[in-house]
Amino acid sequence: MARVIAIDGPSGAGKSSVSRLVAKRLGYQYLDTGALYRALALYLTRKGIDPEGPDDKIVNVAKGAEIRLDGERVFLNDEDVSDAIRTPEAGHHASVFSARKSVREYLFKIQKDAGQSCDIVAEGRDMTTVVFPNARVKIYLDASEEGRAARRYRQLNEKGMPITMEEALDDVRERDFRDKNRDIAPLIRSEDALYLDTTNMGLEAVVDRIIKEAQ
Ligand code: DC
Repeated sequence: MARVIAIDGPSGAGKSSVSRLVAKRLGYQYLDTGALYRALALYLTRKGIDPEGPDDKIVNVAKGAEIRLDGERVFLNDEDVSDAIRTPEAGHHASVFSARKSVREYLFKIQKDAGQSCDIVAEGRDMTTVVFPNARVKIYLDASEEGRAARRYRQLNEKGMPITMEEALDDVRERDFRDKNRDIAPLIRSEDALYLDTTNMGLEAVVDRIIKEAQ
């Protein structure tokens, strides 16, 4: 069994930047499970699937989605969707579809398999609780609502997707509510995860703390 560092936390807590750097420094692969949810939601949305519709229909259509992560790029049936999945709308669809059992079960195996073949840093909402409950290192990354909204505001504006601070805050609150209150695999702080509030921590300090934990 390969080594797994599992990192959970709400949207905008800095999981991606942190996980990417931890993986680079330890020579592990980085598994961005949010990208899988975003890519599958993009596919289902394009196919006109109703997120409230029956699970068997969602599964049947989902079978047509071949999602591949290649370094930083995300491919959906060989189309590079790396940018398309990063819009606020794509994030919203991912959050809505991720509440569905069919979607979670479909992506569970892909995530589990990724942890079999090589050492990984896996980040998402249910890494420490559902997908890799036996991970060697478990981390819960958090930050204040305002801090997370400010990060989202900066990132989207830098990418040329203008958003106001108020919209960023609304988006963070809406996603927190949905991710924490869904019936299946909600985002929860696992008791055996190291809790890190990154509101006033620099990126390097967070990465160093996790690497210390891993060693
Ligand atoms: O981390 P992110 O913003 O890219 O994730 C997008 C959505 O996908 C998030 O709102 C909830 C869902 N998600 C999930 O339910 N479980 C995961 N392990 C990762 C993401």
